Amino acid sequence: EVVSLKDSYKNDFYIGTALSADQIEEKNANEDSLIEREFNAITAENIMKSMFIHPQKDKYDFALTDKFIAYGEKNKMFIHGHTLIWHSQLAPWMQKIKDSTEMKAFMKDHITTIVSKYKGRIDSWDVVNEALNEDGTLRKSIFLDKLGEQYLVDAFKLAAAADPKVDLYYNDYNNEEPAKRAGNIALIKKIKAGGGKIDGVGIQAHWKLGYPSLEEIEKSILEYSALGVKVAFTELDISVLPNPKDFSGADVNQKFEGDPKMNPYPKTLPDSVQVKLAERYASIFKLFLKYKDKISRVTFWGVHDGQSWLNDWPIKGRTNYPLLFDRDLKPKKAYNSVIQLKEIK
Ligand code: G3I
Repeated sequence: EVVSLKDSYKNDFYIGTALSADQIEEKNANEDSLIEREFNAITAENIMKSMFIHPQKDKYDFALTDKFIAYGEKNKMFIHGHTLIWHSQLAPWMQKIKDSTEMKAFMKDHITTIVSKYKGRIDSWDVVNEALNEDGTLRKSIFLDKLGEQYLVDAFKLAAAADPKVDLYYNDYNNEEPAKRAGNIALIKKIKAGGGKIDGVGIQAHWKLGYPSLEEIEKSILEYSALGVKVAFTELDISVLPNPKDFSGADVNQKFEGDPKMNPYPKTLPDSVQVKLAERYASIFKLFLKYKDKISRVTFWGVHDGQSWLNDWPIKGRTNYPLLFDRDLKPKKAYNSVIQLKEIK
C-alpha cells in the first residue's frame, strides 16, 4: 500500500501544493507523478496573477489557466484561484489607472470576466490578497488610493455575483500575529457589514523554525473561525534561514541555523536541521489536526525545495529547504514526521 499525504489526511482537510508554470505544463514526469500521488488540492503559484492573466486592458490570456484547471479536473483535485485583487504583479497598464471611475470599471471587468469564465470549476478564490500592513491598518495601494476601503467590499460583492457558490477568501501573511490579526478580523467584519460574502480567511503560513508560536497559530484558528469563516493555510513553507532584517549587521549567508560555517549550502539539508524541521512540521500538523473541523485546506507553497521562492528571497541564490520533498524529489524527515502523526493512532 502506498502511503501519501493526501490519503493520510483524507478525513481531515485537503493537502495542497502550489504549481509552477512548468508543472502546469507537465514538463517533468517525475514531478507530475509526485504531485498526483501526494496532493489533492492545487493553487497556481503565478500564472493567474493579474499581469499574466490580464496583460492588456482588452486582452486576457487564459491559456495556462485552462491547463491548470484541466489538470486539476483530470486528477479530481480541489482547485483554488490565486488571486484577483493584489497590489503586486499588476500589469503595467493597471498601474496607470488614474481615477475612481477607471478603477471601478477595471475591478468589475477583471473580477467578473475571470470568475464567470471558471464558474463551477474553481472551488475557492483569493478575492483580495495582502491588503493589510503589519500593524493591522490598510496597506497603501492603487486600490485604496482610488476607491478607499470600499474596494474591499466591492471586490467580494463582484466575485459573489459572478459565481454565487464558490468560496471566497481573504488571504494574507503574518495574519496570525496579534496586531495584523486584529486588523484582519476588523476587515472580515467590515466586508460582512458592507454586504459582501466572505467564506474564509487564508493564513499564508510563510513560517520559520521558531516563528510564529503555536499559541498564536492556535488563537488565530479560534478567533477567525469564531467569525463564521473557514480557515485555510494557503502557502505553507518553513524557512530554515534567517531574514537579514532579523540580524542587523550580521553576514546572513553565514547565519545558517545548522552549521554556521557552512557556505555555500549543500544540496541536502544537514541532519541536525532536518530533525528540527521535522519537529516543527509535526508540532504544526498536530495543532492542525486538533482543529481539523475548522480547517478547510493546508497547501504547501511548492512541491519540492528546488522550486521554492525562498531560494531567491530575501536574497537571490540562497539554498533554502522549506518543504517536505528535497531537490531530488525524495521525502525528507519532515515528510515522515507529518505522515507518522496519522499512523500512531
Ligand atoms: O515571468 C518572468 C520570466 O519571464 C522571467 O524570465 C523570470 C526571470 O526571473 O522572471 C519571471 O517572473 C518571476 C515570477 O515569479 C514568475 O516566475 C518573478 O521574477 C518573480 O519575482 C516571481 O516571484 C513570485 C512572487 O510571488 C512574486 O511576488 C514567486 O514565484 C511566488 O512564489 C510568490 O508567491 C507569493 C504569493 O503569490 C503571495 N504570497 C507570498 C508569496 C511568496 O512571495
